[in-house]
Amino acid sequence: MGQLVGCIQGIATACKALEFPVVSGNVSLYNEHFGRPIHPTPVVGVVGVLDDAELAVPAGFRGEGDVVLLAGGEPVEVVTSMASGFKMTAQQLEHAITPKTKWVLLNSPSNPSGAAYTRAELKALTDVLVKHPHVHVMTDDMYEHLVYDDFKFTTPAQVEPSLYPRTLTINGCSKAYCMTGWRIGYAGGPEPLIKAMATVQSQSTSNPTAVSQWAAVEALNGPQGFIAEHNKIFKERRDLVVSMLNQANGIKCPTPEGAFYVYPSCAGTMGKTASTGKKLATDEDFVTELLEAEGVAVVQGTAFGLGPAFRISYATKTEDLEEACRRIQRFCGNLK
Ligand SMILES: Cc1ncc(COP(=O)(O)O)c(C=O)c1O
Repeated sequence: MGQLVGCIQGIATACKALEFPVVSGNVSLYNEHFGRPIHPTPVVGVVGVLDDAELAVPAGFRGEGDVVLLAGGEPVEVVTSMASGFKMTAQQLEHAITPKTKWVLLNSPSNPSGAAYTRAELKALTDVLVKHPHVHVMTDDMYEHLVYDDFKFTTPAQVEPSLYPRTLTINGCSKAYCMTGWRIGYAGGPEPLIKAMATVQSQSTSNPTAVSQWAAVEALNGPQGFIAEHNKIFKERRDLVVSMLNQANGIKCPTPEGAFYVYPSCAGTMGKTASTGKKLATDEDFVTELLEAEGVAVVQGTAFGLGPAFRISYATKTEDLEEACRRIQRFCGNLK
């Protein structure tokens, strides 16, 4: 039986009823695997549990690195590449771990690359982690349900049960349930850690708003069929965007396994000149000129630690994506 940390009195009953059964996910799964009750904990605002070095997977969700800094730690990024599918290898992980390392952060499927680790790829990483018992593992599984082409989502706690006592698995309602802004995240992990997180939470933001907690109860306990329907549309959009971007001069766009982002390289446009006379030297130049010339807003890859590249979110209308990609093609075609 799960419990929402920070429940206010009025919805205590709903919180007690919250078992997160259908989401299959995560919490019921972790419940089963951890063999103890899971305390879904809103993770917003949880800082201060780190005090030394930390590893972050690159081209990753950068906010987490900033949280490490805020807590006085030192984020260490492992740089992946398009060639490696934006995934960290076991050798890279081994090389990056030092006696000072406290946590490894993994995010799969990833923001911004959409890359997701297969079970075998995760096993290679967990084999390394098993050898370093001083290291904790935090997995951000926010895009768990957004995977395509029969890709099977897995998470380290599933792949390597001996890591349970040092794994914090986090998830939330923002993506699969389209609840961005409702601020509901939850985590499964070792009890002392969850208790400490709850203490920090209770002394900072207290609890998420009651209306959000109620909405999460409905989202997680309600019918889940719409997720597959959404995913069908997301997959069509992903395929459309990948195909159209690969037809743009100088752009190379891999097909990601999940999330709702593509992360194409614009290396082939570097050194070319835009119609304003600006020579493109960085991906920031690329996105700025694209915005000026065509009114298309994308995020430069250097913001995520890996460029020259950019990120497009395809969580928007198909017609808008088609138009945006047409404009990107025109922009790239006009570069001299
Ligand atoms: C990988 C990842 N984790 C966590 C979040 C946080 O989501 P939210 O702040 O909407 O709860 C995001 C949002 O973009 C994300 O991409």
